[in-house]
Amino acid sequence: MNPTILIVDDEQHVLNSINRTLRHDYNVILSLDGKSALQVLREQEVSAILADQRMPGLTGSEYFHEARKIQPDTTRVLITGYSDIEAVIQAVNDGQIYYYIEKPWEPEDLKLVMIRAVERYQLIKKNKELLYELEVANQLLSNENIILKKDVEQKYNFSNIIGESKAMKDVYDLMRKVIPTDTTVYISGETGTGKELSARAIHFNGPRKDKIFAAQNCAALPDTLLESALFGHKKGSFTDATSDKKGLFEVADGGTVFLDELSDTSPALQQRLLRVIQEGEFQSVGSNKTIKVDVRILSATNKDLLYLVQQGKFREDLYYRINVFPIRVPPLRERMDDIPLLANYFLNKYMIQAGKEIKGFSEDAIKYLLSNKFPGNVRELENMIQRAVILSGNEQTLSLSHLQTEWEAGKSIISTIPDFQSDIQLSSLPKLVEEFEKKYISQSLESNQGNISKTAIELGLSRAGLYKKLKRYNLD
Ligand SMILES: Nc1ncnc2c1ncn2[C@@H]1O[C@H](COP(=O)(O)OP(=O)(O)OP(=O)(O)O)[C@@H](O)[C@H]1O
Ligand SMILES: [Mg+2]
Repeated sequence: MNPTILIVDDEQHVLNSINRTLRHDYNVILSLDGKSALQVLREQEVSAILADQRMPGLTGSEYFHEARKIQPDTTRVLITGYSDIEAVIQAVNDGQIYYYIEKPWEPEDLKLVMIRAVERYQLIKKNKELLYELEVANQLLSNENIILKKDVEQKYNFSNIIGESKAMKDVYDLMRKVIPTDTTVYISGETGTGKELSARAIHFNGPRKDKIFAAQNCAALPDTLLESALFGHKKGSFTDATSDKKGLFEVADGGTVFLDELSDTSPALQQRLLRVIQEGEFQSVGSNKTIKVDVRILSATNKDLLYLVQQGKFREDLYYRINVFPIRVPPLRERMDDIPLLANYFLNKYMIQAGKEIKGFSEDAIKYLLSNKFPGNVRELENMIQRAVILSGNEQTLSLSHLQTEWEAGKSIISTIPDFQSDIQLSSLPKLVEEFEKKYISQSLESNQGNISKTAIELGLSRAGLYKKLKRYNLD
């Protein structure tokens, strides 16, 4: 069908003459006044509007002002007389019109202007369609990524979990029991103990292993985005929802959803989660269509969920739904006998990555590893060894100096702060850290002449974060 053009002029003979010029190439709609012309815009798609500046009631540019609110992309062309030049300039400057044509005109000139006007509209439309397609393609890609990742993740089996201690064997026993079932599993444990690793092992060794494992870190997103990540959304349901999007519960239908850091969810989201877990159904954001899915739910936190329930920060009913089969991954200090195994495993992994050949650890290095408390658990041990491998030169073994570097670095930072070393006495680590933080902040404040924004940037804090600390340490 030909593109639609709307002509607005209070003189019938002008309308007729324009109609004769354009009707072969366009679907022309004629309108004698601004009001009825606005109605046309409400009812159908119009590529371009041609309106006379001089009309009783609304002038052409006043009409465009309203028209723009209804169909913003339509190309607006003004018909002007010699004395309308100021109105034209104003209208162009305000972005009301794209072209204008002066009376009297040659039919060929009018045709040319309208060709350009319609082309402009079609370009904008095409552009928007492309953007939309891009958006959809991106969405598909991100869903596909989850699927592709699945293949990579096939290798998550028990052999990736290192540890032969009694404490870990108990964990494996529990996992083996629950793996063949559809039971909801709640994995607790301190940071870096291997909760995510265990969740993957449960999925990739179980009956759903050929379906998707979708992990969502609930602490990583603000509430609305988390909701849409999990449940999906309809186009237009909030500002950034420029297209429909499937949530992880739908993407992982038949597979597993892993809710990581589950404790960091709002009461509203907890309510929605309760419903999916209880009934296996949900509605995506902005839609009232109920979607039914079959997903296995695994979750993890490094917080004490029961304590949060007692504090009223986590729904009790959800807690019991989640906590059907709890598995606690023990901290590394409760399985010190796994440290040599883990250390060798990571040494091997990072040595190969770095293309180096290292035979093992020196005696003082092993002693150091075994006396370390590892508050960051396996992750901390892994990072320590990765760094040591990178730092090592031609040595046959990793020694204490390779492992200790971070601490050394810490010491040298402290020594750059005047008087710091002489000020402090040996005391507990938290106190030391506070002392250090306070000095460091006040020094940065001073060097930035008390400018909060600059100081916050320098320290890598938000302004609010910096204010909190200033208050805490009584710094002005
Ligand atoms: N038993 C283990 N064997 C081998 N690698 C492990 C083991 N436990 C943890 N890791 C490794 O340590 C790192 C942290 O593990 P993971 O992400 O599973 O910890 P987490 O308990 O989920 O931590 P967080 O609470 O901080 O999210 C990962 O690189 C993981 O591969
Ligand atoms: Mg984790």
